[in-house]
Amino acid sequence: MAIFFVRFSNLVFVTKVIFVFMNSNTFIDLLGIKCLKSDANITKIDLIANNLLFRTAKTILQDNYVIFPLIGDNPSTKIPESLQHLEINSYSFPVKQSKLSIEDQLIDNIPEDFHSSIPKSYDIIGKILLVKLEPELLPFKHNIADVYLNTLNIDSVFRKTDNVSSSYRTASWECIGGFDNPVTTHKMNNLDFMVNIKSVYFNSRLNNEYLIVSDQIQDKEVVWDLFCGIGPFSLTLAHKKDVIIYANDINSLAMTFLKQNIEINKKKLVGTIFPYNLDAQQAIVELPVSDCIFMNLPETAKDFLPGIFQRIFGNFKKKVTIYLYHFTHKEPSDREDLRKNIELQQLLESIRYQATNNDVKINSMNTRIIRDVSPNKTHFVTELNVSARNS
Ligand SMILES: C[S@@+](CC[C@H](N)C(=O)[O-])C[C@H]1O[C@@H](n2cnc3c(N)ncnc32)[C@H](O)[C@@H]1O
Repeated sequence: MAIFFVRFSNLVFVTKVIFVFMNSNTFIDLLGIKCLKSDANITKIDLIANNLLFRTAKTILQDNYVIFPLIGDNPSTKIPESLQHLEINSYSFPVKQSKLSIEDQLIDNIPEDFHSSIPKSYDIIGKILLVKLEPELLPFKHNIADVYLNTLNIDSVFRKTDNVSSSYRTASWECIGGFDNPVTTHKMNNLDFMVNIKSVYFNSRLNNEYLIVSDQIQDKEVVWDLFCGIGPFSLTLAHKKDVIIYANDINSLAMTFLKQNIEINKKKLVGTIFPYNLDAQQAIVELPVSDCIFMNLPETAKDFLPGIFQRIFGNFKKKVTIYLYHFTHKEPSDREDLRKNIELQQLLESIRYQATNNDVKINSMNTRIIRDVSPNKTHFVTELNVSARNS
């Protein structure tokens, strides 16, 4: 590590040009300013007033002296007159187990003009924290990542660089702190899920939905998980029920992770999962018929209903339960009364139309809210129980 001396005024400063974490959990290498214990209070006030105190490291007590950690590699230029007689040197400071909330720490590390843009939420998948930053916060992205890395039990921070859009439902991510490794293992519903956040879809906020649906399925049923991703529906269900699941996804990398996840969790599974890497249109034609179908592809799942109706009821007269996931972009009053949500009503009308067109009877159709994705976007599931009209 390079160390050099800077002559400033009539003082000698030792300045470290490399500012690194020695061990991110315990110590941090920083410049420190040393004062007599009796002057500690007044020194601290001066440091805070000049934005020089590094708040997430602890002060060091040395005999009759206190050493305060300083912000930046070369704070010498900012030291006020009142402190210029003090010695500055490099030290390894213990990192504070911060009692400040993450939001308060972010406030401390970002200039006031940008406080209104501070992120209010983040997701954690395994050891990776995922966050969306407003463009004006990008100059501070590494400071923001450091706050998360120093406070939470994570290895990496990634920021979203565009929205989920591809047909694989993946987003783009940039590593802004920690290890640049997009692969992690997430614990959910008592199972382990290996995932690469860059190449497959995974949403840790749907854990409860996987449980709700698993509770509704009976042992011995046959299930299609038509858009299975890395398998959170299939594995949660196979963990709880002795069922046969045909788990399908068009993304071959999702299949690779699904197979790995079946292997990792095999001792915990009572059901059996058969992975398929097909376009769902083809899977609908080829898979053995089922009692229950998961369709978690919110923007377009409804387009696959006619094919399902024709396949299931063309040859077999039986009841099927379909879990159709979808989004609506709600209007202000829609949240309380779903009958007022025009988008939802249009969707339900098109399901009724498809059913009539394919000689399918709708025995029940219930919609429930899963979560608000954003202020104007809600994730729903419509549970459809259908049978052939003549059965
Ligand atoms: C929103 S993700 C849901 C994944 C998983 N069910 C979950 O809850 O994490 C939708 C998945 O559908 C897959 N997909 C998109 N179009 C498809 C198609 N035509 N046929 C099969 N899978 C498709 C994507 O690759 C993605 O993994």
